[in-house]
Amino acid sequence: RVEKWWGRFDLYKYDGFWYRLDLLEGAIAAKSNFQAQDDDVLLSSLPKSGTTWLKSLMVSIMDNHAARTFNNINDAKDQYDLLEENFPHDLIPCMESRIFNPLRASENPTLKAQPRLHHTHVPYSMLSESAKNSGCKIVYIARDPKDVLVSLWYFVNSAKKPEEEPYPMEDAFDSFCKGVHAFGPFHDHVLGYWKESLARPDKILCLRYEDMKMNPRGEVTKLASFLGRPFINDDEVDRIISRCSLERLKGMQVNKEGRADSGLPKSSFFRRGVVGDWKNHLTPEMKERLDEIARKKFQGAGLDIYYP
Ligand code: A3P
Repeated sequence: RVEKWWGRFDLYKYDGFWYRLDLLEGAIAAKSNFQAQDDDVLLSSLPKSGTTWLKSLMVSIMDNHAARTFNNINDAKDQYDLLEENFPHDLIPCMESRIFNPLRASENPTLKAQPRLHHTHVPYSMLSESAKNSGCKIVYIARDPKDVLVSLWYFVNSAKKPEEEPYPMEDAFDSFCKGVHAFGPFHDHVLGYWKESLARPDKILCLRYEDMKMNPRGEVTKLASFLGRPFINDDEVDRIISRCSLERLKGMQVNKEGRADSGLPKSSFFRRGVVGDWKNHLTPEMKERLDEIARKKFQGAGLDIYYP
């Protein structure tokens, strides 16, 4: 157990990964009780890897396809946009922090829509047997650990009162390098899903935040096809990309007010969204240390994911 991780809550190690206690209880309950169905889709990610973006995209892709198919039309551009009135994390709730969370049992939403979209931050090894072995598809998003660290640091500090000092970056960096962060270690988390996706590409799609930023059309088209909801023209993909842009979501009233499951302001999920923000926060030595860890972990596993 680590007390007051980054000045906030205690973290507990379970089966090689770190959790806040109620999220660990939620994760254990989900592992035993979550019955995945063949047409379910499970989005998985480490916090601060682009989860909110991916949730927005997945909901929009599904909704666009449903509107086009059920109304038997070629263009669903007039379809009501669910993102206008819903915080993306309410559209695809997190299993361990809401659905199976012991502190929120009374608020469990009943997921009736088909296909059901779920989300989790747990490592691959903590998924339920049916999530792993049914036809349920899994979409995983990963991001450069240096940017994940910086994004996480801002996120955690957004819980502080204005008069409180931010948690020192040097200490945050140190614990991140040791793998001590919620749902960490980073590299083991990424490797668990990545290796599995190589063995079963029809079941698991792994995306990278950087690829999505660099080539949104290509990556979002790939995502839609994987979900079995391929686009029929470029207008569709372009419309969905612009509906889910950071600038648009950040400006929406529904994402500006209130708090998310984590207790943090909804607005803290929308920050800069750039690749390489770590350059403004990490020294060359810090960069080298994190890259070296990535090199050892990923090269050792024969994967070219994140190392220079
Ligand atoms: P930064 O803190 O680097 O800006 P998560 O959703 O997994 O919590 O990740 C949050 C990160 O994704 C934040 O990164 C946030 O700004 C960025 N983000 C949120 N919505 C986004 C969007 N629609 N497009 C691109 N990035 C987005």
